[in-house]
Amino acid sequence: MERKNNNTACTSKEAASSTPYRILALILTFSMLLALGLCACSGKSTETTKKKKKAKKTTKETVETVSEPEEDPPTTSESDTEPSDTSKNDPFATTTEEPTNSTSTENPVVGISLPTKALKRWADDGQLMKELLEADGYAVDLQFASNDISTQQVQIENMINEGCQILIIAAIDGDSLTNVLDFAKAQNITVIAYDRLIRRTDAVSYYVTFDNYLVGTLQGEYIRIALDLDNADGPFNMEIFTGDPGDFNAKYFYDGAMDVLQPYISSGQLVVKSGQTDFYDVGTANWSTDNAQTRMDTILTTYYSDGSQLDAILCSNDSTALGAELALATSYTGNYPVITGQDCDITNVRNILSGYQSMSVFKDTRESVKATVNMAEEILTGSIVTVNDTSTYNNETINVPSYLVSPVVVDKSNYEEILIDSGYYKKSDLS
Ligand code: BGC
Repeated sequence: MERKNNNTACTSKEAASSTPYRILALILTFSMLLALGLCACSGKSTETTKKKKKAKKTTKETVETVSEPEEDPPTTSESDTEPSDTSKNDPFATTTEEPTNSTSTENPVVGISLPTKALKRWADDGQLMKELLEADGYAVDLQFASNDISTQQVQIENMINEGCQILIIAAIDGDSLTNVLDFAKAQNITVIAYDRLIRRTDAVSYYVTFDNYLVGTLQGEYIRIALDLDNADGPFNMEIFTGDPGDFNAKYFYDGAMDVLQPYISSGQLVVKSGQTDFYDVGTANWSTDNAQTRMDTILTTYYSDGSQLDAILCSNDSTALGAELALATSYTGNYPVITGQDCDITNVRNILSGYQSMSVFKDTRESVKATVNMAEEILTGSIVTVNDTSTYNNETINVPSYLVSPVVVDKSNYEEILIDSGYYKKSDLS
């Protein structure tokens, strides 16, 4: 051990006194002096490092802010978002100083704007869309607009300002987004209309929806068959509740159902005692249960309190059907009518099971969500976008290439197979 140490010391001394090592020692000393001098003169290295540290933090804040803007409004300034330029000009930059989470900022941001959280289907649609997109590495800004048109406009504008690359929008009012979508188009943002078509703009590129006309047809057919309109002795009394006239879908649902039922109204086999059959007369603002209940109350008091039998209520969706059912529960004593719906909301499925609603049209929104996520990814990766209809949906400016998913009828006879076996609901949800 001792011998080894001595040997090492001796060897070092010898080396230091030999010519090549002396030259090496001189070079090392000179380099150290040069480095010290530079640091003392500029102090730039420290400042740059500080800038980079700040930039790193800001990058993270930006990403968090973008994904949850409701809770934490964005504060990003232009200078905060440009860390890489600083490092490019910095001769002392090393790879370890590059922002570690830069991939997050490069993740395309998808803005999702939905009408309301109050209806389960929209809440579920938004949640699933967000989960699927995030699982594939995209940043998501999901907003619900409380069924308020100007709230939705502002939320979309914020998403654009925050740099989203794709917008997925279920419009509260299909006519009210023209300006904000012009702004989106100017920023080259691709817009997917989700479930509801956006009208009178060429800034919408794609549409994912269910076959809305078919939804109405299924409701009309259900009433036709349940009352056996072709064979039974009539006439039968029916009332009509459709959705918000500002929602383009409402007209498709109405048209689909009325194309089946109008011939029977015209022939007198079906009678609408209230006389309210026009699309605007039977509309329900905001698809609100309360509004539907109030209108049904008035109709019952005015036209059915004499003991007249109400045989059917054509309701375009479950929230309007629920309003009609609540009104019937308070003031109707005749035989219970056939009632249609749409969405298979939990309360309505329970009502189907207990006999207070006849059917609901099930739109498996897991499928429309998957199709939308798939479409967003195809757009972002520059792949061919999957559509299956290029002619049906004209928004009064362009034909919007669409991907349509099929709706199905659910009633007491098949709810287990369609809703429970498919995992949409657990049996316990419905009791
Ligand atoms: C949707 C329906 C929904 C209704 C009310 C429509 O646009 O297609 O599924 O029930 O809006 O939110």
